[in-house]
Amino acid sequence: MNSDRRTFVAGNWKMNGLLDEAKAFMDAFGRNPAEDVVEVGLMPPFTLLHPMSERLAAMGISLGAQNVYYEDKGAFTGSICPMMLRDSGCHYVILGHSERRSIIGENNAQIRSKMTASWLHGLEPILCIGETLEQREQGITNTILTEQLAILKGAPKDVPLTVAYEPVWAIGTGVTASTDQIIETHAFVHSELQRLGHDARVLYGGSVKPENAEEILACDGVEGALVGGASLQADSFMAIVKAAAKVAS
Ligand code: PGA
Repeated sequence: MNSDRRTFVAGNWKMNGLLDEAKAFMDAFGRNPAEDVVEVGLMPPFTLLHPMSERLAAMGISLGAQNVYYEDKGAFTGSICPMMLRDSGCHYVILGHSERRSIIGENNAQIRSKMTASWLHGLEPILCIGETLEQREQGITNTILTEQLAILKGAPKDVPLTVAYEPVWAIGTGVTASTDQIIETHAFVHSELQRLGHDARVLYGGSVKPENAEEILACDGVEGALVGGASLQADSFMAIVKAAAKVAS
């Protein structure tokens, strides 16, 4: 469920950004120029959440984290719990990003636990799903997406949820899926979500940049973008937000 159906442009900074860089970014970006039609969100590293939170709120920008642990507190050295994210001003948390699945080895069961803990404490997950190139070439894209979305089975329905479809082969590679692939896969993701009883907003991610943003955001079923590399510079992120505003209005 997502009551906010504005186009959502979310910036995932991954493991990038120091305090000075964050300040320079906020100085250069200014306010969200299209707040009525586009929601803008930023997901900086944990260390920047609290320092950026007040100013981003004043700029009309939502804040999110890139990961969370599912326990509430205790002896879990190095982990961050949902309440800590809320305390730092977060509304969103990215879950199941392909870099965490492939590099850290996160599995669907762990992602499900994190999702449940996030809802319990009022965070909105941005659940990332997507197939590898090998899986697409084998023709099993829909099977993989179905498996990844199956963690929603039995979950409460009246919870906030955003889904990001990110073909793994398009992340950080400069290669984007074709508009036909995007439209076809988003239609499938929407139908799966409907079958599971979740009316989530669905974003596209993977090498979204100023040059291709308008074309991608105009695709049927695409309700926003999860932007990695191009969200690190204020001018390129702003160009994507403006493209979203143009498509939305
Ligand atoms: P990218 O990353 O835009 O750099 O491809 C997208 C993501 O990983 O969310």
